[in-house]
Amino acid sequence: RDQMLTDTFGRKHNYLRISLTERCNLRCLYCMPEEGVDLSPSSELLTTEEILRLAGIFASAGVDKIRLTGGEPTLRRDLVELTAALRALPGVNAVGITTNGITLSRKLSALQAAGMNMLNISVDTLRPERFEQMTRRRGHERVMDAIHNAIQLGYDPVKVNVVVMRGVNDDELADFVDLTRTLPINVRFIEYMPFDGNVWSDSKMVSYADMMARVLAAYPQGLERFRDPKGEVAKNFRVPGFRGSVSFITSMTKAFCADCNRLRLMADGNLKVCLFGANEVSLRDAMRESASEDDLRLIISAAVDRKKAAHAGMFEIAKSPNRAMIKIGG
Ligand code: GTP
Ligand code: 5AD
Ligand code: SF4
Repeated sequence: RDQMLTDTFGRKHNYLRISLTERCNLRCLYCMPEEGVDLSPSSELLTTEEILRLAGIFASAGVDKIRLTGGEPTLRRDLVELTAALRALPGVNAVGITTNGITLSRKLSALQAAGMNMLNISVDTLRPERFEQMTRRRGHERVMDAIHNAIQLGYDPVKVNVVVMRGVNDDELADFVDLTRTLPINVRFIEYMPFDGNVWSDSKMVSYADMMARVLAAYPQGLERFRDPKGEVAKNFRVPGFRGSVSFITSMTKAFCADCNRLRLMADGNLKVCLFGANEVSLRDAMRESASEDDLRLIISAAVDRKKAAHAGMFEIAKSPNRAMIKIGG
């Protein structure tokens, strides 16, 4: 273990998010424009071999947790094999996926057998008609089935991601919390964040304080806070006596950058050291120009050292160039 993944503020990066594809089978309002985004030609995307080579380097430098994202990661054909290969890397003890759940059910038991041990499923509404408005596609029932199938297979908790948008789904917070009464799920309400093409405005964002007020209005008994594991993006609570839990991801109004432990490998091979900001470096190009393992380690280490203490604040990032969310993966 070395200092390669420690930045100038002393943050250790043990968590790598890998985006497996830029494609998606939904068109969520908060993620991309209706017409979609330009996709990179497939020759510019990392091959499975390239992903595994890089993941091996990160693992040897201290990454012990990997999350697969997209686009929609279940659209990658060799997802199961890739999961198994990542789990087999020395030091990697957790591999997760963040998925919209549309096609998850049919792959779930194979993924579990391959070692997928953390499941985050995005669903922003409990109402099928509203699902069609928010995602511009059908499939609500399949997503809900995927959540239940995951619970059946023993995932505990299944994390359920809910991006809250004012005037769109902000009347459903109590309904989501109610699911945690009996289900082993962690419902996570997420502040709406700005990315290229998602026409963010602060008036559409529902702040942590607002979300909490809405939940407390429905649950006057209050929420009990429990300790957040280090590097978690969520503030975690439980309604006393409920089986599941409720969390808030407060990237906009209460950023958690000081504990950030994440790095991101994009599908096109760029390394992104912060979710916000255009500061990226192409590991794909380096590899294809026959960089050695040491070369790659130096490039990665230099990028980590350029990481800023914190993002610039929500109004500043809303004005700054970045990728569309679909090309980052969250
Ligand atoms: P685990 O903690 O491993 O369960 O995953 P996660 O919550 O980090 O990942 P997930 O993909 O489920 O993302 C949930 C929300 O957190 C999304 O809105 C992400 O964009 C956001 N998020 C994830 N990582 C970061 C981060 O490093 N910084 C910020 N600001 N937001 C993040
Ligand atoms: N703001 C907050 N969260 C977002 N996600 C996608 N776009 C946004 C946004 N603009 C969430 C997805 C998924 C996770 C990867 O990021 O819903 O759960
Ligand atoms: Fe990490 Fe950047 Fe997210 Fe802050 S905004 S927590 S530095 S990825």
